[in-house]
Amino acid sequence: MTTPTAADAHAHARQATLAAFRSRRATKAFDPARTIPDDDVDFLFEIARLSPTSHGLEPFRILVLADRQLRADLVAKAGGVAAQMVDASHLLAITANTAAAIRPDSVQNRHVKVEVQGLPESEFGTWCERFGDFLSTRYGAWGNERAMFDWAARQAYIVLGNLMTAGAMIGIDSCALEGMVYAEADAILADAGAIDPATERLAVMVALGYRLGEPHRPAIRRPLADVVRTIGSAHSGHRS
Ligand SMILES: Cc1cc2nc3c(=O)[nH]c(=O)nc-3n(C[C@H](O)[C@H](O)[C@H](O)COP(=O)(O)O)c2cc1C
Repeated sequence: MTTPTAADAHAHARQATLAAFRSRRATKAFDPARTIPDDDVDFLFEIARLSPTSHGLEPFRILVLADRQLRADLVAKAGGVAAQMVDASHLLAITANTAAAIRPDSVQNRHVKVEVQGLPESEFGTWCERFGDFLSTRYGAWGNERAMFDWAARQAYIVLGNLMTAGAMIGIDSCALEGMVYAEADAILADAGAIDPATERLAVMVALGYRLGEPHRPAIRRPLADVVRTIGSAHSGHRS
């Protein structure tokens, strides 16, 4: 038997990753009888926790909606597909911080920067100035509550993508969900004591579990030439 080389490992990783991306499909119906094993759930949460965020601020949380009645209420009042939201093994609400929690000197930011990441308290003011400059003159969201929230929601969507991809790599199906009436969903989560809407609101949901049957249509995507264009001379990368 020959020892696998680094090139073999690379080819294998590439093949496994592509296979996962090709097999992942938005799952429209979940097998209600199947539950994701705890160690796979823990794996997915670790993937979420390790996901990168802008400025490393981690302005999201994951709420595990285990309560079946809560799920049914969400479908009844906020809309969405019951086969995804009720039957899935796990239904996650990924929340994002509101403008009040994103403002540079917020309690949430101080917690992450000083308590979690160890930034000296004496340097927090300077960090606030830099982050404030990012939000206002660079990113242009300051003063616009929706744009501020959407900045945090962008970070939540990175978590979403990582969860779906990592899930696909270990045989867990998923469907991202943003078809709900958000105001209703926020109200239900607030009533359940799951969020304080002053500081946190729903960004997106994701249903996780095992598909019931195979998808009816193949995944159709734009051709690569529509997706990727090289500007200027490419040295070693894509052909245009
Ligand atoms: C952010 C996001 C939100 C989505 N919301 C819903 C949804 O609310 N309900 C639903 O059935 N599918 C939803 N989808 C699934 C998409 O329609 C699906 O991913 C897309 O049509 C491509 O199909 P594929 O994932 O099978 O390749 C969502 C997908 C994404 C990425």
